[in-house]
Amino acid sequence: MPANIVIGTQWGDEGKGKVIDIMASRAQVVVRSQGGNNAGHTVVSNGQVYKLHLVPSGILYPDTQCLIGAGVVLDPKDFIGELDEMEQRGVSTANLKIDPRAHVVMPWHLTLDGLSEQFRGNSDIGTTKRGIGPTYMDKYERCGIRVCDLVNPAVFAEKARATGILKNKIITEVYGGQAHDLDAVIAEYTAYGERLRPYVADVSVLTYEAYKAGKTILFEGAQATLLDIDFGTYPYVTSSHPVSAGVCVGTGVGPRMIDNIIGVAKAYTTRVGKGPFPTELFDEIGDQIREKGGEYGTTTGRPRRTGWFDAVIVRHSVRVNGLDGLAINKLDTLSGLGTLKVCVGYVKPDGTTLHDFPSSLEELAECAPIYEEIQGFDEDITGCRTFEELPKACQDYILRLEELCECKVAMVGVGPDRDQMIER
Ligand code: IMP
Repeated sequence: MPANIVIGTQWGDEGKGKVIDIMASRAQVVVRSQGGNNAGHTVVSNGQVYKLHLVPSGILYPDTQCLIGAGVVLDPKDFIGELDEMEQRGVSTANLKIDPRAHVVMPWHLTLDGLSEQFRGNSDIGTTKRGIGPTYMDKYERCGIRVCDLVNPAVFAEKARATGILKNKIITEVYGGQAHDLDAVIAEYTAYGERLRPYVADVSVLTYEAYKAGKTILFEGAQATLLDIDFGTYPYVTSSHPVSAGVCVGTGVGPRMIDNIIGVAKAYTTRVGKGPFPTELFDEIGDQIREKGGEYGTTTGRPRRTGWFDAVIVRHSVRVNGLDGLAINKLDTLSGLGTLKVCVGYVKPDGTTLHDFPSSLEELAECAPIYEEIQGFDEDITGCRTFEELPKACQDYILRLEELCECKVAMVGVGPDRDQMIER
């Protein structure tokens, strides 16, 4: 399987990191195509814990090429911090390349992310405040600063000053915030450009060359389908395309190159940030899932909202991404919860039922889940390594999810370690 994509099928935090890590160990090239340091996943290697935000997970394998595509937004300060930490811990970053077309997160983007969220008050999106939305806004406004600008001091100074003057006006005159000292920003970011120059290379070309050479490529998704700017729960979404098609535009490769698309889901549902969540649990079971599953954000530490598995959502993801297989994570978290519930459809107040995920948030907000009850299990399944070793109730749960989602379950996660993954 030379070119594989791993995508989140719910609202993020499905445990993509573990699936990506397993697949990265078999890949020669690992590519990030969208998002920025709003993503976060933890990789455990040789007993060491690494928290990665922008650096692709292949970095822990010395011979793996790690690529950051044009569709990513890169915060140079944060990224250099991540590089420094890697180097200090003996992990080489020599095989890492960044596309010159990637847009740069500037300090005013961080300021504007915070100010616009504050301005929205109770209607805030609940962003990670990493400046992601404002950076993509500038990209589409066609006034963004790209990595190719950052590494060219004269061009960078001119563009940063021109856009910085406008951003300062918006910060001070619209929001009443504090202006950025443009000379200081230009000096600081020019130094970041110097540091990043050796890492810059055309990722579209590198990926295509790897493909032609028959190398195994892994495209690691960040965020997830319901956070997609078009196919997610707008406006409670991120500003990029975390769906499989986003990989092609965000890397600069054609869709025919892709062989296999894996969608990752949890055996239940979680989300951070705001917005309707039909299967959300507000009771003890929701708390038990949060504590047992360690459902606190990697990037922000925020407690995650928890709920039952929603097959309407995952079916939507199967279609939007053209999934070849599902990886169902954290099945072990459901042990000891009694009877399990799975949402198979929605019912609206007028009694009409929905099979497909609605486009309007207002419609979603009034949807109540239609549940199917499935027998639970109490056994500790963390030691199971084959599907057949799982208790019958677990097997039945997975087989039912497979039917409801209309997609084969290719992997089942029974614990946090890399080897606690059953491959079917
Ligand atoms: P932003 O991406 O920081 O603009 O945040 C927009 C929405 O996406 C918020 O609800 C965030 O919590 C959510 N979000 C962004 N990145 C992630 C992620 O990696 N996992 C889960 N949620 C995320």
